[in-house]
Amino acid sequence: MASYDVIIIGSGPGGYVCAIRCAQLGLKTACVEGRDTLGGTCLNVGCIPSKALLHASHMLHEAEHNFAQMGLKVGAPKVDWKKMQTYKQSTIDANTKGIEFLFKKNKVDWLKGWGSVPEPGKVKVGDDVHEARSVIIATGSEPASLTGVEVDEKTVVTSTGALELGKIPKSMVVIGAGVIGLELGSVYARLGAEVTVIEYLDVVTPGMDAEVQKSFKRLLQKQGLKFIMGAAVQKAETVKTRAKVTYKLRSDDSEHEIEADAVLVATGRKPYTDGLGLEALGVEMTKRGQIKTDAHWQTNVPGIYAIGDAIAGPMLAHKAEDEGMAAAEQVAGKQGHVNYGVIPGVIYTHPEVANVGETEETLKDAGRAYKVGKFSFMGNGRAKANFAADGFVKILADKETDRILGAHIIGPAAGDLIHEICVAMEFGASAEDLAMTCHAHPTYSEAVREAALACGDGPIHS
Ligand code: NAI
Repeated sequence: MASYDVIIIGSGPGGYVCAIRCAQLGLKTACVEGRDTLGGTCLNVGCIPSKALLHASHMLHEAEHNFAQMGLKVGAPKVDWKKMQTYKQSTIDANTKGIEFLFKKNKVDWLKGWGSVPEPGKVKVGDDVHEARSVIIATGSEPASLTGVEVDEKTVVTSTGALELGKIPKSMVVIGAGVIGLELGSVYARLGAEVTVIEYLDVVTPGMDAEVQKSFKRLLQKQGLKFIMGAAVQKAETVKTRAKVTYKLRSDDSEHEIEADAVLVATGRKPYTDGLGLEALGVEMTKRGQIKTDAHWQTNVPGIYAIGDAIAGPMLAHKAEDEGMAAAEQVAGKQGHVNYGVIPGVIYTHPEVANVGETEETLKDAGRAYKVGKFSFMGNGRAKANFAADGFVKILADKETDRILGAHIIGPAAGDLIHEICVAMEFGASAEDLAMTCHAHPTYSEAVREAALACGDGPIHS
């Protein structure tokens, strides 16, 4: 048994960042992790491995579609799936070992095993009970189950199984046109699978700017993904080595079936709080199974905090990281803060999709007067040279004050471009501030400046 200032349960982006910051602030810190490696879902079976497959499959797409036009002759590229899996694993290893190194460097103790909280101020890991002034729960989330759909992680898979299929399927049904479904769906489409996405709603990526939703769906269709919209999946069952999916169209209630070599269930995730013993402690939960916290990530039980996917808000690694740093400040007696109005969201398909702040829809609902500045990548020289001119930048600004309220980008490097707008929003900048900032030529970021110009006197290149 050891005594700590703070013990964090879970070593995903929320937990490990929190642990490192606690240690940097001078607290004696431990982090509990039951997996063999640190990093949680994100590093082991989420963000990082999926990005490796997205990168590799995008390279294949470039070789197949754009190399010849650039005068590059390489012959027909072939996919070595086993080797691609090795590349993916080496990417995971490099990242998880990196966290282990950072723990050692910052003197964070890794308590190996699954943790629970027998009473406030105590954390049990295996047979050991450790003491801690503060306990921070950062246990993340797990795929939500869907009634009638039995996951075997071989033929009917969640995102976890989809990252390590035995072979590239000839056909794949994706249930849910959310972030996971579209990212992994586009990986397999590029690798040659016939991908059909079944979505309950009439739009892809719910909550996103409507214009982006439409454009995104069109671009994915151009890449070969098929969509069945307004369809509720009722059942998915394995038939020998294939799977059969039954769905009902919402428009006429008619029932249909579709077969595929693999089915990816991507209908959302839910907080993972099993086995922590929170109920016995009287920790309040929301109806959706999230741990309830106040504005300082404190639960109703003194000394117990919670962050990341286990609490309310978008299930995003970087939101968890921000909360991790802020909660660390809180338990160290400082003031931690997260600006929930400026949390970017990125979909790492090609083209990428990124957003921050308000959408036109949320502004209309709130009855706010706004203006739109939009610029197509067709007018961006760099994008044209790189065969990446699909998409646009759209900036929403207050009609009176010109203050930037939100931005939506679909196009090359959207996930990086969005951050200049995030920084601008953090400083309360106007669209004119962005427009008056010199942007290097030729860069994709000129499209951001042109969109900002479009909020005022107009862009130059359109
Ligand atoms: P999601 O909530 O983004 O999308 C789920 C989709 O499934 C929705 O469009 C929903 O309408 C649909 N759906 C639900 N039940 C259905 C049914 N019976 N039949 C047909 N469609 C149905 O969930 P997803 O993609 O699983 O992602 C989970 C979480 O992980 C999200 O919060 C997401 O933000 C996060 N994530 C973020 C990533 C990123 O930032 N790049 C990458 C991967 C995950």
